[in-house]
Amino acid sequence: MGSHAQPKQWIMNAFAMFTPGHLSPGLWKHPEDRARNYEDLSYWVDLAKALEAGKFHGLFLADHLGIYDVYQGLGNSAPALESGAQFPLADPFLIISAMAAATQSLSFAVTASTTYENPYALARRFSTLDHITKGRVGWNIVTSYLHSAAKAYGLDEEIPHDERYARAEEYMSVVYNLLEGSWKDDALLRDPKTGIYSDPEKVRRIEHEGKYFKVAATQQTHPSKQRTPFILQAGASSAGKAFAAKHSEAMFLPGMEPASVKKLADEIRAQAVESGRSADSIKLLVGILVIVDETDEKAQKKYDELRSYANLEGTAALFGGWTGHDLSKYGEDDDFRFSGSGAIQSMVNTWSATVPGTEGVKWTRRRVLQELAVGGAHARAIGSPETVADILQNWIDVAGIDGFNLAYAISPGTFEDMAKYLFPVLRKRGVFWTDYENEGASMRETFLADGKGPQLREDHPGRKFRWVD
Ligand SMILES: Cc1cc2nc3c(=O)[nH]c(=O)nc-3n(C[C@H](O)[C@H](O)[C@H](O)COP(=O)(O)O)c2cc1C
Repeated sequence: MGSHAQPKQWIMNAFAMFTPGHLSPGLWKHPEDRARNYEDLSYWVDLAKALEAGKFHGLFLADHLGIYDVYQGLGNSAPALESGAQFPLADPFLIISAMAAATQSLSFAVTASTTYENPYALARRFSTLDHITKGRVGWNIVTSYLHSAAKAYGLDEEIPHDERYARAEEYMSVVYNLLEGSWKDDALLRDPKTGIYSDPEKVRRIEHEGKYFKVAATQQTHPSKQRTPFILQAGASSAGKAFAAKHSEAMFLPGMEPASVKKLADEIRAQAVESGRSADSIKLLVGILVIVDETDEKAQKKYDELRSYANLEGTAALFGGWTGHDLSKYGEDDDFRFSGSGAIQSMVNTWSATVPGTEGVKWTRRRVLQELAVGGAHARAIGSPETVADILQNWIDVAGIDGFNLAYAISPGTFEDMAKYLFPVLRKRGVFWTDYENEGASMRETFLADGKGPQLREDHPGRKFRWVD
């Protein structure tokens, strides 16, 4: 009897935001979309239950701290307001406990900014969430990019890009120190016989004085299951990639086609090794929009129907926030393969090569927006379960990634379709689990699946802050 190695098990992570629409402005008008009532807690609880029933690994909540106001003149928020382009936008931390109470195994990644959040306060908030979710929480570390957020937080200008990462680096020392270094494992006694709650010999104040932060504090919460939340990051610049290679345990890779993502994946793994970590200590995920139905035709029809609800002005508002470029400054007929900044041209050129049937066609403002309108700057997999599974398999094989960050067009419909049509095929192919490995496992155990427990791995830089005698 020949033995076959088990195929790689994919990570399937749902991507959302505490706002109507997320990456698909205007789709809140679709009769089946529940994210329209983004403030309705029962929507979030139902979503978490549906994701857990489908055995998604986690739910990742993006966030930013301003408004998209670049399009049609800096400071103009009308396009975002009218279309509901990631606005209104509420605080993602506050819905996690309700979703955690309704689930046992689904993980929750929350975005928080090292540029605007205070590290002492944030360490406390993540530790609290890690306690009440029993270790099912992750932190998507961002350095933030919106001019409007800088203004909102009292700055005249954004802190320059690379300096934001330098601050983030120091920020991490403070957070690790608090979460790994302030309490010993056995400091909390809660012993009614002695009447002692916490052992003062095993809890200490940490002192940090650096270029950006000065913190003298005892971590207010005792160590949670993971201590430090599972760390996710999505840096794309040199500074961002270096940060991710050092700190992240899962990374979101940008990119619309597998060959270029492979280069990035190889680079990140090499950098992780250089910084003393093992190559497989970072799970690499690619963002993708999956539209799946019984047949290719039905799926294409569904995509076309979804697209009919898109609001291109809202998409232009998102594009302005992401890139800092105001598309209203370009002519209707300009071809973006040849106009716009170098970054936009290179993005459009790479990406136009992946969209069939558009060779020789002008990539005008309208076309660029149409392509981004449902699911944003993500690759797409549209078709029958077999077609979609083949597309995803190609990503895994060519790019060498570990799984996917799955955007939605309408919620929870897009996720339910995946659970209904796609996951059974993935299971038949042996690439997706039938259930969580252990009910109640921490996010770190769920994502790393290396049997090494809920806390930071020995080779992770945060681990050296642990208080050991
Ligand atoms: C899948 C994905 C999700 C992201 N989510 C957020 C987010 O929620 N909030 C945010 O401010 N930035 C977010 N970003 C932006 C990244 O944090 C990062 O700033 C961006 O990829 C550019 O890289 P750089 O910071 O190295 O220049 C995300 C990026 C990707 C690819």
